[in-house]
Amino acid sequence: MNYDMNRDSNPAAIDYGKLVLEDRVHSRIYTDPAIFDEEMDRIFHRGWVYVGHESEIPNRGDFQARNIGRQPVIFIRGDDDEVRVLMNRCTHRAAVVCPHESGNAKRFVCPYHGWAFLNTGGLLGVPHSERYDDGFDKKDYGLRPAPRQAAYRGLMFASLAADGPSLDEHLGPLAKAEIDIAFDLSPAGKIDVSCGTHKYGYAGNWKLQAENSTDGYHLGFLHRSFVEISLQRAGVTTAPDYGANAPYRLRSLGNAHVAWDMSSPAATRWLTGGAAKVPAAQQEYIDSLVAAHGEERAHKMLARGGPHVLIFPNLVFIQTHIRMIRPVAVDRTEVFLYPYRLTDVSDKINGHRFRGHQAFYGPAGGGATDDLEVFERITEGLRATVDPWILIRRGLGQEQIESDGAVTGQFTDELNNRAILHYWRSVMSGEKILGSTRETAI
Ligand code: FES
Ligand SMILES: [Fe+2]
Repeated sequence: MNYDMNRDSNPAAIDYGKLVLEDRVHSRIYTDPAIFDEEMDRIFHRGWVYVGHESEIPNRGDFQARNIGRQPVIFIRGDDDEVRVLMNRCTHRAAVVCPHESGNAKRFVCPYHGWAFLNTGGLLGVPHSERYDDGFDKKDYGLRPAPRQAAYRGLMFASLAADGPSLDEHLGPLAKAEIDIAFDLSPAGKIDVSCGTHKYGYAGNWKLQAENSTDGYHLGFLHRSFVEISLQRAGVTTAPDYGANAPYRLRSLGNAHVAWDMSSPAATRWLTGGAAKVPAAQQEYIDSLVAAHGEERAHKMLARGGPHVLIFPNLVFIQTHIRMIRPVAVDRTEVFLYPYRLTDVSDKINGHRFRGHQAFYGPAGGGATDDLEVFERITEGLRATVDPWILIRRGLGQEQIESDGAVTGQFTDELNNRAILHYWRSVMSGEKILGSTRETAI
């Protein structure tokens, strides 16, 4: 591999070592458009970026228009049944050929001069082609594929760099194990992500959402009203402990991937029969998982309550949904939420998951809006630069290394922010290279 040979000639034009320290980071990393431009180049346009799950395009011709950083792509299943990521750019004069968010298409016809492309990417026809010279060959002008594409459990990632670490290296075994939980909570080991999309946007930097997705410290404060209402509805009088004595852990998995482990002793007791009667639908579900994966793994996954993991930079699994983060500008971010169905699991259980999702994350839900409000407050607060520092020191020096190699901290620590931002510093400073080229190789 030759990606080390493509280091920037001047990687230290912005001194990232001065902006990200062990215990704090400078406001500029959230507000400077020049830093945003470099993030697009070094992280989003070179590294592995999540594009979509194959179940979103189950039929030939199904497509979803997506973005890799700032670049438009089409995630599509061609008539040959192959799933691809194609650049959404006419090879004639660059117009976007697919203006729709999603749909099914045999071909895409560019509106400007009528070039027509197959859903496998090939160039089908060029109007009045007789005026092209003999050296012009349609074969050479298909929609360009993203240079590297790879999937894990049907999750398609793409990299716009022709060369660099593999997806396998990028994910690593610990992050893959977290992803596995999402799938293996289905006895068939499959999920269906074709259940609709919930979108939101906020005036703030994309890293705020990435960091917040595994921020344990805020639960008992920002979401307190939601927690209280949920407890009242359930008739529960003891509030869960989300404080410094909570038994939950943050797990840093390498390459800025971070997970929560909220395995609860109470859930384990419940599963192993130490609690009151289990409703029939739940028991049937538990039994199906035990039959598929064995008792130990089934109980472990159920005690976890599902995965809760950031796969850096733009994918998050949160129990009931997949979250995809789209950076638009230094102070503008869009987020797409895809609640998913567990395959071969009863409607009752899946319905229960969807209701839980709606209650917290839905447009009228009581939780996600709290986070959006605070992101915009941060964007406003970042303008006050008398003291420009942001702290990431909670729990610093108290990390533990688990037997599987994960670095862990107490649930309210800022281990997640340190894992993300220290990795970010290594990529942005040029110390770590995610891919070979600054721009798509053509
Ligand atoms: S720009 Fe697409 S056909 Fe000319
Ligand atoms: Fe939150």
